[in-house]
Order: sequence, then structure tokens, then C-alpha cells
Amino acid sequence: MTLHLQNVGRCIGNQWIVRHLAFQIGNDECLALVGPSGCGKSTTLRLIAGLDPVSEGSIAIGGHDVTKLTPAERSIGMVFQSYALLPHLSVFENLELGLKIRNVQCKDRSIRIQRVLDLLQLSDRASHRPAQLSGGQRQRVALARALIRDPEVYLLDEPMSNLDAQLREGIRPELRRLVLEQQKPTIYVTHDQHEAMAMANKIAIINHGQILQLDTPINLYKNPNSLFVAQFLGRPQINCLKPSDNQIQAIRPEDLKFDDSGLPCRLLSREWLGNTQLLYLASSEGDLRMIMDPSFECPERLFVRWDPQKAFYFDRETGKRIP
Ligand SMILES: Nc1ncnc2c1ncn2[C@@H]1O[C@H](COP(=O)(O)OP(=O)(O)O)[C@@H](O)[C@H]1O
Ligand SMILES: [Mg+2]
Repeated sequence: MTLHLQNVGRCIGNQWIVRHLAFQIGNDECLALVGPSGCGKSTTLRLIAGLDPVSEGSIAIGGHDVTKLTPAERSIGMVFQSYALLPHLSVFENLELGLKIRNVQCKDRSIRIQRVLDLLQLSDRASHRPAQLSGGQRQRVALARALIRDPEVYLLDEPMSNLDAQLREGIRPELRRLVLEQQKPTIYVTHDQHEAMAMANKIAIINHGQILQLDTPINLYKNPNSLFVAQFLGRPQINCLKPSDNQIQAIRPEDLKFDDSGLPCRLLSREWLGNTQLLYLASSEGDLRMIMDPSFECPERLFVRWDPQKAFYFDRETGKRIP
């Protein structure tokens, strides 16, 4: 099973919300769609699910063109950002609804619901209403509702955005395993680059409704095609030096080294992060971020250098990578 988008776009009025979306996802792939708020991530999922009309291009699932099909006619399991659980129904009834609509027989419904509840460790919550659940449990119910349909494609729209950081980190490995086990093409939307790198085997970086680059996490990190991609992936963020000759040179914090023949810097501040420390330095090339061993006692004045081979160069106007 594959999901294939060809030049897909959505236009409202005279404005393109997303445009030229083109990619293919296989059944062993989870694609993370990442970009800032408002860049068109949810719109992309809604187009694939059939909730919004496509203005140009086509969408195929398993080689069949679904562009003109209604949402019900497409085999898609979607998890919405807001969970979208019905508050007056129990967990069991929330899960049952989708199966009833699909005319699944009562006996089969119970078996399928029980299986998914067991899988997501929700069996003891079957009779609870959403308001009686924790954020993490609600998140799992929303996921259960997508899984129970056994769809051909999974679309997850910021499924963990309502959870606090600790809970998110706890659920992430579990969710990753679950997603990969399904062996279905999956799109995982997030605005969090860390989550994207952890969850997906491919990442598409999207901005202003267009995909800037799509590749494996490691290739995107090592070979960004634009300043936007270079800045989006990696924390602390890549350092951008003062532009010269219409070029911006950028260097990752881990690629800066101390060297007495290097660029003179002044220590602005430092953050201990437990296993590392982050130094903020001022220089004639602008402020720099640098990662060091936590035990390092940084002097007030120091010199840093880097291997020019490890730096990236971008066009100041377009932000495109200069080879
Ligand atoms: N029905 C609509 N009418 C007008 N503008 C819309 C509509 N849906 C989305 N948009 C606009 O399209 C852009 C992308 O929205 P969305 O896909 O929700 O972004 P994201 O999920 O990346 O935060 C936003 O600027 C939003 O305001
Ligand atoms: Mg969104």
C-alpha cells in the first residue's frame, strides 16, 4: 500500500493555502510533516482525508485515485489535534461509533474494540467519559479510534500537542512502535523538530504551503537545501554569521572548537543542560552558540574556530544553499 500525492494544491479565493505537494509514502514509512504554525500542515492532511476539496493535482492510495472520493469512501484513520472525542459518550461508545457507521456487526464490534483497548492499555477505562480521563489517556483513545478502523493510511495531526513535555516523552516510544507495527503509510504532523526526528523515518519541511525539502532526518540535518531547513532542525540552533558578499555562512554549535588563532569571542551567558552546557558567545561575526562538556569552566574571553568544510553557505536573498 502506498500514498501518492501528485502536485496537490488547495486554493481559497485567490490564495494558495498549499501548493505543489508531491510525495510518495510506502507502507513501512512514517513521514513527519513539520513546519511553523499556519504553514499548511493540517490542510495537507484534510486534503488527503477528503475533508477539504483539492484545487489541483491528484491523490492515490494503493494505486487508486481517490481525489474525488468522499471521506467515508477513503480508508483513512485520522487523529485530530483536538482529539475530537464526543464528551457525552464513554470510551467504548466513542470507539463503537465509527464501526456502527460502517455497519460492522455488534459481535465483531465488541471484539475489535476490546483488542484495541488492550493494545493501548485502556481496558479499565472503557466505561469512562473523556472528561474523566487524563490527557495521555484521551490521546490514546483518539489513537484507538483511528486504529480500530484498520485503515489503509494513517494521518496524525499533532497528536501529542495537548500533553505536557514529560508525558509526551513517555508516550513517544510507545507511539512510534505502534505506528511502525501497523505497516501502513503514515503522516505525522508536528511543529516540533525533535518529535519529527524521533518519530519518523522521513521528514518533509513545509513553509508557506510548500515542501522545501523531504529526506531522512540525518540527510536533512547534514545536507539542508536552504537556510530555513538548516535553522529548523537541530537544537541549539545553527549559528548564522554576519552576511558577506550576499552569502550567509552557517555553522552548527557542535562544530565550533576552541583555538587561540580563532575568532575572538566574549562569553555572554551559559546554560547547564545536565549532560552538556550551552555557551552564548558574542563576536564580530555575531552571537554564537556552542556546546561544551558540562565540567568546562569557560573564561570570559576566548577564541573559536571551525572547519570551513563543515560550514554551510546560503544566498542572502533567496536563502537557497550555495554549493
Ligand atoms: N477554510 C479556510 N479558509 C481560509 N483560510 C484557511 C482555511 N483553512 C486554513 N486556512 C489558512 O491556511 C493556512 C494554513 O492553515 P493550516 O493548514 O491549519 O496550518 P497548520 O496546520 O500548519 O498550522 C493558515 O494561514 C490558515 O489561516
Ligand atoms: Mg494544524
